[in-house]
Amino acid sequence: MRPVIFDGASHTWLLSTPGTSYVIRLDDSDVPRQVHWGRSVTLKEACALGPGWRRQRSSFEGTGGGPELTAEGGAMFGVAGLQVHYADGARGVEWRYVDHAINEGHLSIRFTDRHYPLEITLHYRVFADTDVMQRWMSLRHTGSGAPMTLLRCDSASFTLPTREGYRVSHAVGGWSSEYQIHRETLPHGETTFTSRRGITSHQANPWLMLDSGDAGEEHGEVWSAALAWSGSWRITVQRSSGGVDWTGGFGHDGISWQLRPGEEWETPVFAGLYAPDGFGGTSRGWHAYALGHVLPHPDEVRPIIYNSWEATGFDVSEDGQARLARAAASLGVELFVMDDGWFGARSSDHAGLGDWTVNREKFPGGLAPLVAEVHRLGMRFGLWVEPEMVNPDSDLYRQRPDWVLHMPNRRRTELRNQLVLNFARDDVATWAHAWLDGLVADNDIDFLKWDANRSFTEAGWPDSDDPDRLWVDHTRNVYAVIDRLRADHPGLRIEACSGGGGRADLGMLGHTDQVWISDNTDAVDRIEIQYGYSQLYPARTMSAWVTDSPNPLTGRVVPLRFRFHVAMAGVLAIGGSLSKWTEQELAEAGELVARYKSIRSVIQHGRQHRLAPPGADVAVVQYVGPDGRDIVVLAWRPSTRFGHPPAPVRLAGLESGATYDDPDTGTSYPSAELAAVGLPLSLPAGDYASAVVRLRRRGPDGS
Ligand code: DGJ
Repeated sequence: MRPVIFDGASHTWLLSTPGTSYVIRLDDSDVPRQVHWGRSVTLKEACALGPGWRRQRSSFEGTGGGPELTAEGGAMFGVAGLQVHYADGARGVEWRYVDHAINEGHLSIRFTDRHYPLEITLHYRVFADTDVMQRWMSLRHTGSGAPMTLLRCDSASFTLPTREGYRVSHAVGGWSSEYQIHRETLPHGETTFTSRRGITSHQANPWLMLDSGDAGEEHGEVWSAALAWSGSWRITVQRSSGGVDWTGGFGHDGISWQLRPGEEWETPVFAGLYAPDGFGGTSRGWHAYALGHVLPHPDEVRPIIYNSWEATGFDVSEDGQARLARAAASLGVELFVMDDGWFGARSSDHAGLGDWTVNREKFPGGLAPLVAEVHRLGMRFGLWVEPEMVNPDSDLYRQRPDWVLHMPNRRRTELRNQLVLNFARDDVATWAHAWLDGLVADNDIDFLKWDANRSFTEAGWPDSDDPDRLWVDHTRNVYAVIDRLRADHPGLRIEACSGGGGRADLGMLGHTDQVWISDNTDAVDRIEIQYGYSQLYPARTMSAWVTDSPNPLTGRVVPLRFRFHVAMAGVLAIGGSLSKWTEQELAEAGELVARYKSIRSVIQHGRQHRLAPPGADVAVVQYVGPDGRDIVVLAWRPSTRFGHPPAPVRLAGLESGATYDDPDTGTSYPSAELAAVGLPLSLPAGDYASAVVRLRRRGPDGS
């Protein structure tokens, strides 16, 4: 089956993924509309499908229903996904189809406005190995006169087929409580999920899942979409008597951009996925897409990190870090990351940001001796940076006060005692690239943790005639600087961070290798945060530290084994004050690190099944390794209840008729038993009980 087929007679396009179809048709006014998004159909079936969009029943209704882009214009009364003002006061779009191009899985359909020199191209890309479909849009000013004003410029709009009820699932939260999942009835009217913060945000994450109220973890139809963008964004779902559609893209309400003659403007990808197998199937679909089409090095196994932040805060020194490095190496850590505090006058968060020279009081010989020691210990060396920010108390700010986001006659609001550098300025991006490039090259740095610890305020750019561009160009330049660094230093790996999980999205994942998903390292809180993160993003990208007990944030006392078992659900790392750990704890930690190494390829590259959510007596996650033979089950019971022994957990992704062996206990299970009755969980008594179970499908030769 060809991925994209066009029927000229009906102006119908059929896009096919391995398990789904998406059908677009032009209406009588050339408006492109979604006719079908769901199970696979043939071209004949696609052409025979009814128009899909709703007929106007009165003069008070719009021509709503299924536009591929909810552009303002005519009787379109919903939220505008494309809103253009022309110099003569006219606004909106009157669509005229021009042509289309099909290049393998890439379909681009070109339109113009019927009067104004605006070319609109809708882009779609489907792949042979995923049901995720990429969508984006480009605009071109084809005239020579005045600029046009873009008030809204979404990547794509989607329509939900008519169903009995509608539910939306999405992630909300805050600092240290990211990715809390809410699954609620979709309100009538318009529901907006957005970030006006210049970063993706802790408060909302740019994806949503919609179902008709009947989907579960492993069954039911789910339609979802995720935006690949790391700055401000907006997704609005509209539920009216006519149905449900949604539109999404970069930028937030109230900002606008000038599209100049000859200029082309391209949006980020807003990808969509239809899955017939519930929220779990939806998540697995997105995980496979991230591994197959987003991450720069998907095949690598992520190393075990030690990060110094919770152990030392800003109080870093060559000796102290070297001691930590030796302790970390003896546990089996593979990458040592020195966090904040190594540069300029950075002894607290009040000063030094922007002055990216090594603090010689803390590191008399520069970074070289520490890096050499870390490398000698057999680990890679990583370093924390926060290139987009500056403390007013810094040499950089004293020399370049105009480099920060600011507006005339407005105060410069400080958050965490810092201001945001205007990365949209090419001179700022060039400066950042230069010092980062030198830092990495001169010090043999293998890994950067790229942090961003505040949102934008007073986001002005007085020297610019189109200042709102900074909301887009800042993010584009962050991507560009990272990409350039990666190209020049092919061994360099990067962790995205924004005060924990404030900038986790498919855009950032296209340019980095993993995400520090929360500053909350309390293992119990973390179960829920990781559950929320896993809805869209794969375990392979989820950095998870084991830190001290009591936890510095919550004060909760949690055994080491439970902390490790929770962190094993992603990319295991250690972030505790190792000098305070007892000999016994260090020995146990070493064993747990070794245990993780033996299962990490299954966790990092396998298919994930969330068997029981946080809040169940025992929360359980299962991974099936890439070859389908290996299984890992992680189970966590934060608090025990008398009379509630852990029920066996029925496993997913098993081969029927096979036998699975547990190499640790010597027990064997027929797959029918694991699927129907379940795997018995042997949890220690008391609170914070946890288990890791490995199973391997027996091969034909009995191995
Ligand atoms: C916020 C990060 O999330 C922390 O892990 C740490 O790197 C601090 N910033 C350092 O300032």
